[in-house]
Amino acid sequence: MTPAAVIAGLGAWVPRRVVTNDMLAEELDTSDEWIRSRTGIVTRHVIEAGMATSDLAVEAGKRAIASACPLRPDALVLATVTPDHPCPATAPAVATRLGLDGIPAMDVAAVCSGFIYALAVGAGLIATEQATTVLVIGAEAYSTILDPQDRTTRPIFGDGAGAVVLRAGHRSEPGALLGMDLGSDGSGADLIQVMAGGSRQRGTGRPPGPGDHYFRMRGREVFQQAVFHMADTSCRVLKKVGWQPEDVDWLVAHQANVRIVHAVCAQMGIPAARAVVNLDRVGNTSAASIPLALADAVARGQLRADQRVLLTAFGGGLTWGAAALHWPQVHLTP
Ligand code: UT7
Repeated sequence: MTPAAVIAGLGAWVPRRVVTNDMLAEELDTSDEWIRSRTGIVTRHVIEAGMATSDLAVEAGKRAIASACPLRPDALVLATVTPDHPCPATAPAVATRLGLDGIPAMDVAAVCSGFIYALAVGAGLIATEQATTVLVIGAEAYSTILDPQDRTTRPIFGDGAGAVVLRAGHRSEPGALLGMDLGSDGSGADLIQVMAGGSRQRGTGRPPGPGDHYFRMRGREVFQQAVFHMADTSCRVLKKVGWQPEDVDWLVAHQANVRIVHAVCAQMGIPAARAVVNLDRVGNTSAASIPLALADAVARGQLRADQRVLLTAFGGGLTWGAAALHWPQVHLTP
């Protein structure tokens, strides 16, 4: 029988430095009131100069491995769009620093849907018996790609990392990924973009156009797409696993904006009180968003073993995805 992928460990890490809305308002034409009311974000964590995504990934990975002890990962999938370098992938360096030399390690780039995509890749490695235990990390140093002068993006995003350990098991066990759905629409690629640094606009030795290395987002259009696709992909997963919206104990949606999370709830008929929200403290951390939200919900005693959980995300690409599972008993290590 095909082995199922079962969550067996969870870890999260955010850099120490906290940036408040008021701190941003000293540098940008914005206010605490605007950021809170339009996004729900109050603070976010930002790396110190010299730190990179792999540093965040290693911290979250260490904690997930400790949480899954004595299991030892034999594959690593890292979701990120802020790799340490355009080449090579960041995952092999993370594996080596975690003492996992020799295992297959790869990056997955699906922007804010990255963690759900990486979960699917991890589950695929287990299903095809390429691996028995997969460390799946979502890590982003988003502050490194934001335009410091752009008030439409800088208040939204934060840095951080979260990880789970997937192990081979049986569908009937708590923690088994019962159903997943993934999708993309490249016609919306220009809604969320970094223009330079890839093969379309590669380095010539001369400085790139102003701001071409910075992240740009057409926020209002992304908002509408995010609500539609997170609700749509979630409904497809519910259908696959035979759950009704009222069966969902916790919706763990990508933490982009509290208005988006609540709009997804409204569209699906899930009470807003059943949505996990930690974006007020960490902002939008892209691929790290879902595991950070899971860890926060476990730490606060909201998310408990055997509860029915629906994960969903939307991001640049455009990409989206969802997954359903019964939450397992997992322990967090500080
Ligand atoms: O993670 C991947 C997915 N990402 C998302 O899902 C993000 C989706 N988008 C959003 O969350 C929201 O669109 C934003 C939070 C980015 C923006 O909120 P909004 O309610 O859609 O605002 P808007 O872009 O329609 O802008 C409204 C006004 C504009 O001024 P005018 O044109 O009405 O005069 C903006 O220039 O607010 C202005 N504005 C700001 N004002 C103060 C934009 N950013 C700021 C700011 N402070 N930081």
